[in-house]
Amino acid sequence: MNTFYVTTPIYYANSLPHLGHLYTMIVADTVARAKRQRGIETYFLTGTDEHGINIERAAQKAGRTPQEQSDYVVSYYKKMTSEFGLDTAHGGYDIFMRTTEPFHYQGVSELWRRIAKAKTPKGNDAIYKGHYEGWFCAACAEYKTEDEYQKPKNEGDPPTCLIHDTPLDRVSEESYFFRLSDYDEALLSVLEERPDFVRPDYRRNEVASFVRGGLQDLSVSRLKTSVSWGVPVPDDPAHTMYVWFDALTNYITAIGFGNEERQKAVGFEKYWPALHLVGKDILRFHAVYWPAFLLAAGIELPRAIVAHGMWLDPNGRKMSKTLGNTIELDVLQKHFSIDAIRYFCLREMVFGQDGRFGYEGVIDRANSDLASGWGNLSSRTLTMIARYCDSRIPSGVIPEDKLLLAKRTGVDTDETTVAGFIEHARDQFVHHFENLAFSKALETAWSVVARVDKMITDAKPWDLAKDENQKQTLGVVLYRAAESLRWLSVLLYPVMPEASRAIWKQLGLDGSPAQINPTQLKWGDLKQGAQIGEVQPVFPRMDKAKIMSEIASPSPVSTEPSAPVVHATQADAIGITSFIEIDDFAKVDLRVGQVLSAERIPKADKLLLMKVDIGEQQPRQILAGIAQYYEPEKLIGRKVVIVANLKPRKLRGLESQGMVVAASYGEEGRPVIATFTEDVPNGARLK
Ligand code: MSP
Repeated sequence: MNTFYVTTPIYYANSLPHLGHLYTMIVADTVARAKRQRGIETYFLTGTDEHGINIERAAQKAGRTPQEQSDYVVSYYKKMTSEFGLDTAHGGYDIFMRTTEPFHYQGVSELWRRIAKAKTPKGNDAIYKGHYEGWFCAACAEYKTEDEYQKPKNEGDPPTCLIHDTPLDRVSEESYFFRLSDYDEALLSVLEERPDFVRPDYRRNEVASFVRGGLQDLSVSRLKTSVSWGVPVPDDPAHTMYVWFDALTNYITAIGFGNEERQKAVGFEKYWPALHLVGKDILRFHAVYWPAFLLAAGIELPRAIVAHGMWLDPNGRKMSKTLGNTIELDVLQKHFSIDAIRYFCLREMVFGQDGRFGYEGVIDRANSDLASGWGNLSSRTLTMIARYCDSRIPSGVIPEDKLLLAKRTGVDTDETTVAGFIEHARDQFVHHFENLAFSKALETAWSVVARVDKMITDAKPWDLAKDENQKQTLGVVLYRAAESLRWLSVLLYPVMPEASRAIWKQLGLDGSPAQINPTQLKWGDLKQGAQIGEVQPVFPRMDKAKIMSEIASPSPVSTEPSAPVVHATQADAIGITSFIEIDDFAKVDLRVGQVLSAERIPKADKLLLMKVDIGEQQPRQILAGIAQYYEPEKLIGRKVVIVANLKPRKLRGLESQGMVVAASYGEEGRPVIATFTEDVPNGARLK
């Protein structure tokens, strides 16, 4: 059947979307549009991964239930997809998948049951019960082996994740295991027999050597008492499924696996197998665990798993809030056209490798390639057709009796030269596109822009226009330019849907470039005599200095991305979803305190150790995770609010006898200590 299924990863619902998430969606959207343009029935999935300890903790920190946390993050994803033209209404995704959907629970349970009944290729039970002992990173949702974590500096402290630099959780409990170790040979033969299964090549080699290095069985459940936010293990609800088992399965439950209704609405057999687009950081889950689960369940493997690189800042550093080098979606949305962002993403990152993203880079590319390149070619061609040809597409043929005259001007009288060039470029473009080599494909398209530009410059239509005898020669030059623009609109539609449609319309064409299969483009199909549309610049030049200064000093004070529009009460708007009684509040003993001393703790870069006078005989010793934001010296003497009846607890071997109250804002939860502007004695109670 002529169908295609493309997926992005489903994103963790613990934090708000950023450029990395937007990027894979843009790639998937481009692939989906290209397939649809070729008449292939295409299904495009994106969505959120909403279970696990990771989400549970984020919810707790934000004072929400996990479901509320997921809904909150999803509202931002929906806002992003709508603003960047990636949702269904804009011709983008077909489903925004959420792992909290009841049909997903049904499907995952079905997959588990199937695997639980299966034997491995080596004749063992594919799932067995055992005991897990080890370290787990909540942020990666992954168990870590010794070479994957940083050993603690102080004895007794947990090791830290090499990726996230956060302490790992010790897990020691009963667990179900998936017998991954029995799938090494099966996986290696898939990698060998299907060279395109994991792309690019060097990533396939990495996966193969990981498998060859020996596979450990995979713990695929946690006790419900440790992780309750997830899908219960069928027939053993004391266990919650491992979040990656649950998450990966979304790719099949979304299209109907294990659920009648979805099956009828979409169709598993119709669309499976999928092309999975993923970041290189989650390749192992997709190229090893996922195929092994599917092999065990007797389900066809994915069409391919394609891993892209990471976006770094213009200096090649990882983007992070702490370094302040992230790309803000709100800023992108405010200053750049969607097409310019899409073009930059696909042109700048050599697919598979890391790329560098900076606002200046986007402006430079938009100005050189779009405004001065394709945009300029389009407006100069159309303006000349308006001026010299009465806004009608001229004839593309030079009559016999004018051939000699035309030749004298240096214009190529053999139209197959330019047609041949563009046909060859189209074939190359399509080939690169099929291989997801977007950067190369776009380079090829720009070779057409350059060639046609040169043709115009060499022919000097403005001189030809002065000579009535050269009217046909002039017409031919402009016809060729206009016909090339038509081809470019079709080729570039999946990358820049808006601009392609706009140029299409300005050429006076009916329908949309979205409906034209690029492989069926025929030179000369542009109709002579057709009236062109109103000529407007498609890519206005961007004023770099002005935009950069606006980005550097934005007008609003907020650092939070602007909130999605939701119909809500005022309380909902700030994330409050339930109320407490006054008695509940009275249980919290808040006191005025004064900081007597504050110092950093060696080897704990987040914590400050403070002595705070709250009117008792002895000052309280309090540890606060604010060291990255406050110089200890500046806190001395400051009035603060202390939760005085919080149960003391030990951090880094030191007892903390209370908590400093602070506002927390932004995605990283930046703390701002609460204080008083009037005099108030130490120990006074807050009510
Ligand atoms: N929930 C899992 C995926 C489950 S799929 C069954 C997950 N989520 S994630 O939100 O952490 O990341 C999703 C994707 O975003 C990853 O593929 C990751 O590579 C991508 N990106 C995150 N930061 C990125 C960049 N800076 N650049 C490009 N993509 C990056 O992992």
